[in-house]
Amino acid sequence: MARDEEATGGRKPPSYGGEVNAFIVTTCIVAAFGGLIFGYDLGISGGVTSMDSFLMKFFPSVYRKEVADQNQNMYCKFDSHLLTLFTSSLYLSALVACMCASTITRKYGRKLSMLSGGLVFLAGAIINAAAVNVAMLIVGRLLLGVGVGFCNQSIPVYLSEIAPAKWRGAMNIGFQMMITIGILAANLVNYWTAKIESGNGWRISLGLAAVPALMITVGSLFLPDTPNSILERGDAAKAKQMLQKIRGTDDVDAEFEDLVRASAAAKKIDRPMRRLLTERRYRPQLVFCTLIPFFQQVTGINVVMFYAPVLFKTLGLGQSASLMSSLITGFFNVVATFVSIYVADRFGRRSLFLEGGIQMIICQVVVGGMIAGSFGTSGTGQLSTAAAVLVVVFVTGFVMAFAWSWGPMGWLVPTEICPLELRSAGQAMNAGVNMFFTFVIGQFFLSLLCNLKFGLFFLFAAFVVVMTGFIYFFLPETRNVPIEDMGEVFRRHWFWQKYAAVDDDDNNKGGSAPRRSVELK
Ligand code: BGC
Repeated sequence: MARDEEATGGRKPPSYGGEVNAFIVTTCIVAAFGGLIFGYDLGISGGVTSMDSFLMKFFPSVYRKEVADQNQNMYCKFDSHLLTLFTSSLYLSALVACMCASTITRKYGRKLSMLSGGLVFLAGAIINAAAVNVAMLIVGRLLLGVGVGFCNQSIPVYLSEIAPAKWRGAMNIGFQMMITIGILAANLVNYWTAKIESGNGWRISLGLAAVPALMITVGSLFLPDTPNSILERGDAAKAKQMLQKIRGTDDVDAEFEDLVRASAAAKKIDRPMRRLLTERRYRPQLVFCTLIPFFQQVTGINVVMFYAPVLFKTLGLGQSASLMSSLITGFFNVVATFVSIYVADRFGRRSLFLEGGIQMIICQVVVGGMIAGSFGTSGTGQLSTAAAVLVVVFVTGFVMAFAWSWGPMGWLVPTEICPLELRSAGQAMNAGVNMFFTFVIGQFFLSLLCNLKFGLFFLFAAFVVVMTGFIYFFLPETRNVPIEDMGEVFRRHWFWQKYAAVDDDDNNKGGSAPRRSVELK
């Protein structure tokens, strides 16, 4: 039996009309621009906080500690809560913004959320570039966070809805691709601005965030709303026209019929977030929308994204070598994301998750072991050049593994497993949990490093062991399953069937969309 049929219990997934066309590709690229602002933020703060001019101006005590005693404990060199608050504050406001964006996305459309996100982000970039004190820096970061929250909640929903089922994985990974391009752009900018003599390079780094903000703001004005969203707001004729336009064919009746049913069911549901949290039949969605983002963050990926330059500097590389090394990891992050675009819709989400997990464990254990070997528990010592190169190689191997597995799948899977009535709330939950743990890692990594030393890398590896097992046992394959038929996948799963089965009765009360063509054998 083909794998797609397996996923839907022997039933061939209905093939809707329509292929990928230029309109849909352009639309997805523009929407995915939102990933740039997130990526730019992720990548920019590490480089900026490793610039001496920035530290001297805003965090003089950290700067003094850094230069005072070169022989001090390496693990604790940069440990400062105020410094990490600069990086992490953004993700706290993003968390709150995700929750508000969920209602706007559902009631007023996905476009409006993207537009609002872009505008607020723009304001944050301007304030940051003009900052004269820590308060301005933090206010700017909070506004950037609101922008990121709005975009991260609405864009994955938008992309999953607009793409034909067959291409949903690839289109959705476009968002992750833009995140990685944003990170690389930030690494490049930092590499260049760190060399600016006046010491104001950090202003350029922070101010250039306005560029991706303008791209998503202007871009979102031209984006069409998704047929699902237009229907959700009650205009069936317009929704059908839009579906015909994005599929490039008039033959959309089957898909439209499913959309109408899903939308009618969704309309009967009020307070979707509460239902997601409390109703037993939504347990699989709740579990995946909370655990996937949690696990994604405890891989430790953002230790590399935020602090690669600081980490490499901690290990004894000079400023320029540190920024260069993070450029290398940034570059391979983008390259590896292409792999998952190719693989996700061909070989499935599970194979990516599992391979990526195993590769991450190996790399983390090697990096932890090398740091232990060179710095021990005292944190004094030196990495030889060969060892430093090896650390960079294994950190890159770790980043690549993440980039084709938990990175893109962490945004794709939670959106595609939610029925329409839950999609917005589910994505708010996914993005919110993601932002919360991004905050936790951003805020506490440097002090965790100071306390757990090399053991921190083994702790991350242990998390990856647990999450790889979790995927192996609990995640059903969702490749090629039309988004409206996802419930079927859970009804067939050895573990989730007992929750999803509740669905059948409730369907008629307007719970989930009754299915046009699903017949259980
Ligand atoms: C994650 C980010 C991470 C990035 C790295 C995203 O999927 O959500 O936290 O920094 O991937 O490329």
